[in-house]
Amino acid sequence: MEVEAKPSSLKTSAAGLSILIVDDEDATRELCRDIALEMGLEVHTASTTSEALETLEQSPVDVVVTDLRVPQLGGLELLKRIGSSQPNTSVMVLTQYGTIETAVAATRLGARDYVTKPFHVEELRTKIERLIQSVELDHENRVLREQLRTRPGFGGLIGVSTKMQRVYKMVEKVSQHNYPVLILGESGTGKELVARSIHFLGVRQNKPFVPVDCSGLVPTLIESELFGHMKGAFTGAQHARAGLLESGNGGTVFLDEIGDLPVDLQSKLLRALQEREIRPVGATDRVRIDLRIIAATNRDLESAIRAGAFRQDLYFRLNVMQIKLPPLRERKSDIPLLVSFFLEKFSDSQRPIRTISEDAMRRLMVYDWPGNVRELENAVERAVALGSGPILHIADLPSNLQQSSNEKSLESNELTTIDEMIRRAILRALRETNGDKLAAARLLGIGKTTLYRKLKQYGPELPPN
Ligand SMILES: Nc1ncnc2c1ncn2[C@@H]1O[C@H](COP(=O)(O)OP(=O)(O)OP(=O)(O)O)[C@@H](O)[C@H]1O
Ligand SMILES: [Mg+2]
Repeated sequence: MEVEAKPSSLKTSAAGLSILIVDDEDATRELCRDIALEMGLEVHTASTTSEALETLEQSPVDVVVTDLRVPQLGGLELLKRIGSSQPNTSVMVLTQYGTIETAVAATRLGARDYVTKPFHVEELRTKIERLIQSVELDHENRVLREQLRTRPGFGGLIGVSTKMQRVYKMVEKVSQHNYPVLILGESGTGKELVARSIHFLGVRQNKPFVPVDCSGLVPTLIESELFGHMKGAFTGAQHARAGLLESGNGGTVFLDEIGDLPVDLQSKLLRALQEREIRPVGATDRVRIDLRIIAATNRDLESAIRAGAFRQDLYFRLNVMQIKLPPLRERKSDIPLLVSFFLEKFSDSQRPIRTISEDAMRRLMVYDWPGNVRELENAVERAVALGSGPILHIADLPSNLQQSSNEKSLESNELTTIDEMIRRAILRALRETNGDKLAAARLLGIGKTTLYRKLKQYGPELPPN
């Protein structure tokens, strides 16, 4: 066996992870230990299976590397026991040359990988590194799954259409970074909801989330609203006040309707973002700020740039990652789900509207929804307030939805019953969550009992994996 310690080419950040090395050969044990220490792992060693099991009982580890010919129980038995007592631990086995069958048996028992002795030190290093990387990935996925499980409908976002799935994937991804995000989408498509999800899934979740409506700021006061001001900076400024950017320090500032920000303030904002400093109105000193910026607009910023109404450099600064939200008319399959979510949200013991008539549902499906989810939400809220019985009827809908002129435009594949549409949504959610009903219910934004009730009602079969 060659013993050399070349610096590793693969960079692994294994901090916080632990490994147990089990081998009765001192040389192998020490070699593995050196590699693991070099990678920053917390290392335990054992030369017998009982020693190994004792160590594991005291402190569970992330990774085990074990020889298969280890005294007492042997590697395969050790592998079995780890599999049943610590299923989250990844095991790699070391086998003798010419005993490939044992290696195969080991992988059947759950070993992630194997190395055949005698091995080259680089091979061992690479395999341990790979193992650690997969453990880290598993860990990240577990955290994400846990977050999905504990947050209703992915941060309150409802919808299982392919387009929304794509949005969730992006949200998940960008939430783990600190880059600016630009959210584009028509009015009412959920831009603010998405911005909040990004914040609350990320590392800044316990810090402030500050929404700033750039279209609602009084033009003469925008600068002081954003950057703050000193006492006496202008008439009426009786006290010094921190601006919105400063109050989000450490957290996320959501610049909503960024397209409405006047051009002169765009340059001041750009400067603040580049230098990570702001200067309150009337102040001589600057204040350091640490912010995550999420901006949103329903305007076409590129044509605004061409028209000279939006600064291109600010656009580049904000548009590092982009999320485009689909209009509701492009994901109509989500309508039944949204309706059932809003029905549950707005109905109460006095107005217990539990469901919607098929005719009314069909109306909702053919309508174009220029105001997107917000318009749908308002329509349902209004219908619940006006409705008299337990079923929402066409007559309860806003007047523009009562005309049936475009009923024919419903495509044949959309002409399914509500039950069928909800059933499909449930199936899709179950597929997405690998059959985890609790997670599926969260994804769908419905209660667990509602899901169970619907499953019983429709009896959808679990899709094959
Ligand atoms: N996918 C969704 N699931 C559930 N509710 C949603 C979804 N998208 C939007 N909503 C609801 O619709 C309403 C509008 O959403 P939001 O304010 O996030 O939209 P917006 O894109 O910021 O709209 P605007 O451009 O008009 O400000 C909110 O009440 C929000 O809760
Ligand atoms: Mg908004």
